[in-house]
Amino acid sequence: MKYWNLIIAVIFLVFSESRGLSIAYQRPCRDLSPECLKNTLQSVIPIFASGSQDLGLEPLDPYKLERLNLTLSGITIHFSQGYAKGLKTCVVDFARLEDNILETQLHCNLTIRGKYRSSGSLLMFPIDGDGISTITCDNLKLHSILKFGSKEKNGRTYVEVESSVVNHAYDGRVKYDMTNLFKGNPGMSRAVLNFMNRNWRMVAEEFGTPIVDYGVKSIMKNVRRFFNVLSLDELKEL
Ligand SMILES: *[C@@H]1O[C@H](CO)[C@@H](O)[C@H](O)[C@H]1NC(C)=O
Ligand SMILES: *[C@@H]1O[C@H](CO)[C@@H](O)[C@H](O)[C@H]1NC(C)=O
Repeated sequence: MKYWNLIIAVIFLVFSESRGLSIAYQRPCRDLSPECLKNTLQSVIPIFASGSQDLGLEPLDPYKLERLNLTLSGITIHFSQGYAKGLKTCVVDFARLEDNILETQLHCNLTIRGKYRSSGSLLMFPIDGDGISTITCDNLKLHSILKFGSKEKNGRTYVEVESSVVNHAYDGRVKYDMTNLFKGNPGMSRAVLNFMNRNWRMVAEEFGTPIVDYGVKSIMKNVRRFFNVLSLDELKEL
């Protein structure tokens, strides 16, 4: 595949007037060195995170979490009217391209805020919460390996993400701020919140993965959508 410099350029300000598409474009460099890949990805993140109606890309920062249900260790947590913020300011540590495989690593400071309701039981404690939850995540590491291919559609060639593996790790700490963890019991609520913050890593490892996976799925949906909307020829014009 000779068009890697186009593919990784991902998103920019361009007018493809025939199809009425407009995308932000400012490619900082055009080679495939790790340095250029890193700079290109870094310049693309804020634009990609803003979303694009023309391309059918959802805004990812802030990312609306209208409703999200999680069931974990016997506890059901129901988030609503929430948002996640911070994707725009993720820092790219490195990017490497070999054959059709792109390996990248980012660090992000993220905040997730919203209403929550929880029910169930943990050990012997009945859980019954209903309040506002704010989770801040410092230096969340996201490592990804994307494998690309291509496909033909209506006589055009499109880039396709054949597979993606994304891992995360907590390089900074996670802070929890949750009001009313136990309805009508502020003392117990405070004690449990303190416990959660003292044991933030254990709590993040138990509860964080489905939330991170949900976010990663949303990002990957946009990436696939982007390559599905712009053909290879259109990418070449960027
Ligand atoms: C989440 O759970 C609530 C309460 O059980 C339910 O009303 C709602 O439809 C669920 N939402 C989703 C997105 O599954
Ligand atoms: C996250 O915030 C911390 C503390 O404010 C800062 O030192 C770090 O550089 C930030 N990381 C990113 C990826 O923005």
